[in-house]
Amino acid sequence: MKASTTAAAMLCWLLLPLAWMLTAEAQDEVRIVEDSAFETRLRPPVPFLHDAHNDKAGIEECSVCHHVYEGGRRLEDESSEDRECSECHGAPGRSGRLQLATVYHQRCKGCHEQSSAGPVQCSECHPR
Ligand code: HEC
Ligand code: HEC
Ligand code: HEC
Ligand code: HEC
Repeated sequence: MKASTTAAAMLCWLLLPLAWMLTAEAQDEVRIVEDSAFETRLRPPVPFLHDAHNDKAGIEECSVCHHVYEGGRRLEDESSEDRECSECHGAPGRSGRLQLATVYHQRCKGCHEQSSAGPVQCSECHPR
């Protein structure tokens, strides 16, 4: 009796931080693409359930989106998830803004077109 109570208590101490970590992670998940370089927007920012999206689409390499280039070539096993796309791709300013929107579209819409899955219409990504 005593031993099992102790075991149960220990299990609680082990599980509590785990539960806390899982909740924290769920709350931290990116739910929208809202690059800080677009100070004003022509379209609403794009709902994007980061982890769920990547699971469903079966994307395993972070570097498919968070890439790192060196000497004009993409490094297969390095990634840049600690940086926004705009830290390397344009904005603010008119041409930088266009460039930034273009790389987002190339990456997101490009894959959807290629895999015939996922939204390709403006209003499917930018809700009205
Ligand atoms: C389909 C594209 C895509 C893939 C694949 C992807 N991400 Fe992301 N990720 C994004 C976008 C878009 C954002 C939000 C814009 C930004 O911060 O660059 C983002 C943001 C993040 C952030 C910043 C979170 C924050 O609060 O600012 C982290 C960390 C991150 N991703 C980690 C990862 C890891 C780890 C993987 C691989 C397991 C991964 N991502 C795979 C597209 C992707
Ligand atoms: C650490 C800097 C860096 C970050 C962060 C970065 N990129 Fe890039 N990206 C590059 C470089 C360098 C190239 C090579 C072409 C060039 O010189 O513009 C490139 C090329 C591209 C291209 C064209 C080639 C290709 O891979 O299809 C697209 C599209 C692109 N990036 C989208 C994105 C998106 C979307 C994000 C954010 C999720 C992002 N990039 C984050 C540096 C970066
Ligand atoms: C490497 C391929 C790939 C890239 C890159 C990619 N997607 Fe997707 N996306 C998919 C696939 C495949 C689906 C369909 C998944 C399914 O429903 O089976 C999808 C579905 C979606 C959906 C529908 C809802 C959902 O979450 O399933 C949205 C919204 C979406 N993508 C937004 C984006 C955005 C925004 C980006 C760029 C930041 C992006 N995607 C980049 C492959 C990709
Ligand atoms: C697959 C998803 C997807 C599709 C389809 C798409 N976009 Fe985007 N677009 C994005 C993402 C992601 C961004 C970056 C969002 C952000 O950071 O606010 C973006 C950024 C933009 C921007 C720059 C930010 C702003 O609002 O000023 C404009 C303009 C834009 N898109 C217009 C369009 C138009 C017009 C179409 C249809 C021809 C379209 N998009 C289709 C995902 C998409």
